[in-house]
Amino acid sequence: MDEHKPTILAVGAAVQDVFLRGDVFKPVKEDDGELVEEFPLGSKQDVEEIIFSTGGGATNGCVTFSRQGLNAIFMGQIGRDPAGVAVLEDLKADHVDSSMVQYSEKHNTGYSVLLLAPSGERTILTYRGASTHYEENVFSLDGVDADWLFVTSLAGNIKLLEKLVNEAKAKNMKVAMIPGKGELKQGDKLKELMHKVDLVSMNKEELQMLVEGDDDIQLVRHASDMTPIVVMTDGPRGVTATDRKQIVKAGMYEDVPVIDRTGAGDAFASGLVASIAKGHDLKQAIVFASANSTNVVNNIGAKTGILHEGYELHDMPLEVSDF
Ligand SMILES: Nc1ncnc2c1ncn2[C@@H]1O[C@H](COP(=O)(O)OP(=O)(O)OP(=O)(O)O)[C@@H](O)[C@H]1O
Ligand SMILES: [Mg+2]
Repeated sequence: MDEHKPTILAVGAAVQDVFLRGDVFKPVKEDDGELVEEFPLGSKQDVEEIIFSTGGGATNGCVTFSRQGLNAIFMGQIGRDPAGVAVLEDLKADHVDSSMVQYSEKHNTGYSVLLLAPSGERTILTYRGASTHYEENVFSLDGVDADWLFVTSLAGNIKLLEKLVNEAKAKNMKVAMIPGKGELKQGDKLKELMHKVDLVSMNKEELQMLVEGDDDIQLVRHASDMTPIVVMTDGPRGVTATDRKQIVKAGMYEDVPVIDRTGAGDAFASGLVASIAKGHDLKQAIVFASANSTNVVNNIGAKTGILHEGYELHDMPLEVSDF
């Protein structure tokens, strides 16, 4: 039996998310039909519930890896403030190694207030902070011993992304790249990096910023000219993926009520990588990633619904065809 327990290093954002649930966030209709929230200036409004949680693609990924029985290391930047303490406490509670965390001396930890309306709709006030101000050489893989690099949004810092991918390849690590909006805007440079990495996971809108295709299968095929494993999600419409051997088309894992969709994409991508790092095939990985993200949207907060090892999976609508 293989006793090796894979280690995954996740790089990217760490933030605190504070949810306020209140009847007062019930939207009102403007003349043009648009829904808005409005408060008289200077008023004080009561809310019914407050929920503290933490997020950011890299910390959410680490929690998936750890709950799935893998070693997880977080690399990212926070400020010296209570939100940073909350991020580290959540990582500790899930046994994530946070010894590679960096502190910004200029910026506070990323922080969002999410106003939850009774209908489940939400308005987000966000301070992006330390997670979006990376100094050029803030992160390095020197001294890191890991099997996989899981690199999420780096706030458009392609140079840093390139450095991390190159360092990982030099160490023979596998690389999963989950680019953020800032990286996607620099399509040509990102596509160069897609040739170097082992796996990419993106939603359809994002993949369409990089490749052309008349349908879902064409989109993933074109992306797979660059990257061996390509996975494209499309919210409740399902998933299309390829590993250059097969094409997998999957539907919805479960039609659950969406309580809070924060972290859906992170749970999917990290679930996918956790499963593949354990040696599962693409089809099994998609089932687990779908279950993980479905459970996340069914709970408040990006980490609450992340599945623990041993959770019993069921089948889902899924078709496999030759590449
Ligand atoms: N309404 C929904 N019902 C059930 N599952 C959902 C729903 N929305 C998303 N999911 C699950 O989450 C996965 C990822 O969702 P989506 O394609 O919207 O990712 P994303 O756009 O990257 O999300 P994010 O906004 O978090 O970046 C889906 O493949 C699906 O498994
Ligand atoms: Mg996403």
